[in-house]
Order: sequence, then structure tokens, then C-alpha cells
Amino acid sequence: MEKELESLITSLKDELASCTKEADILNVKSKYVGKKSRITEILGNLKNMTVEEKRKYGSLINNTKKEMESIIASSLESLESKANITFDDTLDYDIENGSLHPVTIVAKEVTDCLKKMGFTVVSGPEMESEYYNFEALNVPKDHPARDMQDTYYLDNGMLLRTQTSDNQIRGMENYGAPLRICAPGRTFRNEDLDANHENTFFQIEGMVIDENISIENLMYVMQELLSEVFKTDLKVRLRPGFFPFTEPSYEMDMSCVICGGKGCPTCKNGGWIELIGCGMVHPNVLRAGGVDPEKYTGFAFGIGLTRLAMMKYKISDIRVLNSGDIRYLKNFDIK
Ligand code: DAH
Repeated sequence: MEKELESLITSLKDELASCTKEADILNVKSKYVGKKSRITEILGNLKNMTVEEKRKYGSLINNTKKEMESIIASSLESLESKANITFDDTLDYDIENGSLHPVTIVAKEVTDCLKKMGFTVVSGPEMESEYYNFEALNVPKDHPARDMQDTYYLDNGMLLRTQTSDNQIRGMENYGAPLRICAPGRTFRNEDLDANHENTFFQIEGMVIDENISIENLMYVMQELLSEVFKTDLKVRLRPGFFPFTEPSYEMDMSCVICGGKGCPTCKNGGWIELIGCGMVHPNVLRAGGVDPEKYTGFAFGIGLTRLAMMKYKISDIRVLNSGDIRYLKNFDIK
């Protein structure tokens, strides 16, 4: 009898040792101390024993059952305390904070600055019609300017917009003149990828239409904007440019902050970065938007937001911005 009782305790301990869940322990519990367990059977047999046997084994059997119950209870307790460690909400977890994407940050800085100057922020579709992306912007079907902006033509006859300038027409249609809008957004071109070219990038468009708008106004807005974003004196230069939707047209460049103007792959060794296309809105574009060019004039500009972010955060390869590689992006430590 003593041997059997001892072996019950040993095998109970063995089985409990391999339990990892509460349910496992409860199964063992019913097997060892439940109604149909061996110990309950032995206890039941006590009444058939002689007085002498009862005296000899009675308390031993009862104590064995109590011991088994307390072994099971402490096993449940230790499982609970292990579980508490897993869910300990006082633990100081090392969860990394995220940060905003560099392009998101400059987009916000630029729109915040423009909003202070009275611009309304609008947005247009990334999947655009040829009409809004080209034709209404004075770029007819076989115009050579289309070669500069090759894009992805879709089966449904639409295209992925090559520029945020589509918002010029949509803006005039929706709000009429006078008008002061800006439109940040994603744009696409069929490019050979390198440190300076991506097929997907961001721009922000700006357009002001009113009576007596001149190039002076355009220059003022551009200067305010760049000094707000870079918070330092930068060299900028204005060159005559060509865009079918503005007349006259300009290119505004800024000195390359990656190499300090000495020349590097980002600035194609020229020391300058093309950043802003701008000019006075072409009368054909005003007409396409339903605005009377005899009464109103306007200026428009398009800024490469992706390029602006690269300059601001000294990112020398444009491709990392779309990579989604947090190991790289978190190096900017921008909050
Ligand atoms: N949409 C032009 C581009 O992507 C940039 C541009 C040039 C926008 C002149 C304008 C503008 O609004 O007036 O190259």
C-alpha cells in the first residue's frame, strides 16, 4: 500500500512537469484526485478494511490525497505567476517610436507656409485623363513637350499623372477666379531609375489668379517659401525656362546642399538642383479653366517635393525614399 501511494505521488509530479497550460493541469487533477481516480477508489475501499488496517492506513491515505491536492494547487499557482510575467504591464517595453516620412514633413512645411499666405490646399486624382494632364495645359496631342513627361498609359484610356499641374484646370473649374490654391500630390513618370530619378515622386503645385498679378508676386511667394523651409540663406537662381502652360516660364534652381555646390551625382555635377518650374499662366490655360484672360492674370509653380526633402535631409539617393526601409528612414530621426 505504502509503495502504491508513493508511486501515485511520483507519477503525478512527472505528469505535472510536462504541463504548460491550465487545462493540462486540470486534466491531470481529475485523473489523480477526481471521482474516478485511483486515490478516491482506495479511500472508498477504506470502509471494507479491518479496524486494524483502517488505523494503519487511514491517515496515510488521507494525507496522500491532501499532498496530491496541494502539489496540484502549487503547480497551478506557478503557471499563473508565469502568465503574469508575460502580461506584466509595468514592464518597460522597448517599442520604437515611428517618425514621419521626410517627404511628408516637407509637404506639411510647404503647405503650412502657403496656407499662411492665403492658399487653399486641394488635391486631384493620381489616375488622370490626358485632357487634364496635357491638353488643357496647352500640350496638344503631338506636342514635343510630351516626350519629356512619358508616363504609364492605362488600359482604360487614362494615365498616371505626370505632374500636379492637372490641379490648375480642376482648381479653376471648381472655384473660378480669383483663386489661390496649392496641391501636393504623387506624380509618375516612365524614368530610368538612378540616384536622381524615380518613377514615383511628389510635387506641389501652386496657382494664384487675380487682377494685376505679376512676376513680382511670384518671386515674393517663392522666396518666402524657400526661406521658411530651409531656415537659412540659400543661393537660388532664376533661369528662363519653357513650359507650355506658362508664358514667360522660369526655372528656379537652388545650390545643391549635398555637395555645397561643388558637384555630385545628385546635382549631375552642376552644383545646382532644379527645384521649381514657374511662370505666368498662359492665356490658353486660363481659357481652358473658364477664366477670362482679358480680366485676369496669374502665376503658377510646381515644386519637386521629393527633391526638396532630399536637399533638406541631405539624402543622396532618391530611391531610398520609396523603399519603405525603416532601417534607413529612421536615420533621419525626424519627429
Ligand atoms: N509641371 C511642371 C513639371 O512637372 C512644373 C511646373 C512648371 C509647374 C511651371 C508649374 C509651372 O505650375 O508654372 O515639370
